[in-house]
Amino acid sequence: MIITFEGIDLSGKSTQIRLLKEYFESEKKKVVSVREPGGTVISEKIRDILLDKKHLKMKDLTEFLLFSASRQQLTEEIIIPHLRKKFIVLCDRYYDSSTAYQGYGGKVDLKIIKSINKTATGHLIPDITFLIHISIEESIRRKKLIKKNEDRIERKTISYFNKVTDGYLKIAKNDKDRFVVIDGTLSKEEIRSMIILSIKNFSRKSKSKK
Ligand code: ADP
Ligand code: TYD
Repeated sequence: MIITFEGIDLSGKSTQIRLLKEYFESEKKKVVSVREPGGTVISEKIRDILLDKKHLKMKDLTEFLLFSASRQQLTEEIIIPHLRKKFIVLCDRYYDSSTAYQGYGGKVDLKIIKSINKTATGHLIPDITFLIHISIEESIRRKKLIKKNEDRIERKTISYFNKVTDGYLKIAKNDKDRFVVIDGTLSKEEIRSMIILSIKNFSRKSKSKK
């Protein structure tokens, strides 16, 4: 099973992945978590190029292709081998991030994104995707609270991030079977319970299909 988490920066993805990993471990399940961009030696190097604040000249298409290169390496090197070994794989972002950020935010042609997303992941589609939705204003409020340093992507404009959040909602609306949209302003515990409930429902449904 592969479960992905999406949402803008500081929406609470890593928090929920940590809580969900603890839950699966308490259930004695084999579980691994990965983050994008990154997760392999090569992908981490690509991450450094992508997030470097000095790389102001980076074009949207270059950005998208680098994210895809990082993703392809992570998929082949870590995700697929773990799925074969019956691990539950939790991903902090996956190809929907590229559709939302480089597609809806950066205006790379959505058809190109769709096609390369498929190629980079070997057509691997997540079983469930949790979209933790917060506004850009809430993200900025949280950033001030924790005094986080901004990377190159986080320095983009508010209007860019509004397009990204709207884009995420459109992607989820077009793929209702896979997506669970969660209000990210609920408490961490409420969100955790909703996530676990959705996974239990998903497992029940897939068992009854067999
Ligand atoms: P992301 O991985 O999406 O960037 P994090 O899980 O790192 O987000 O959370 C970003 C910040 O927001 C952290 O300071 C975290 O404690 C806080 N946070 C996470 N979930 C919530 C929540 N439901 N309500 C309020 N703050 C939250
Ligand atoms: P990271 O610090 O890992 O994000 P987060 O704050 O969510 O933990 O930085 C990754 C940045 O890259 C983040 O701003 C989102 C962006 N991104 C894209 O623009 N496209 C993509 O395909 C991916 C995977 C990430």
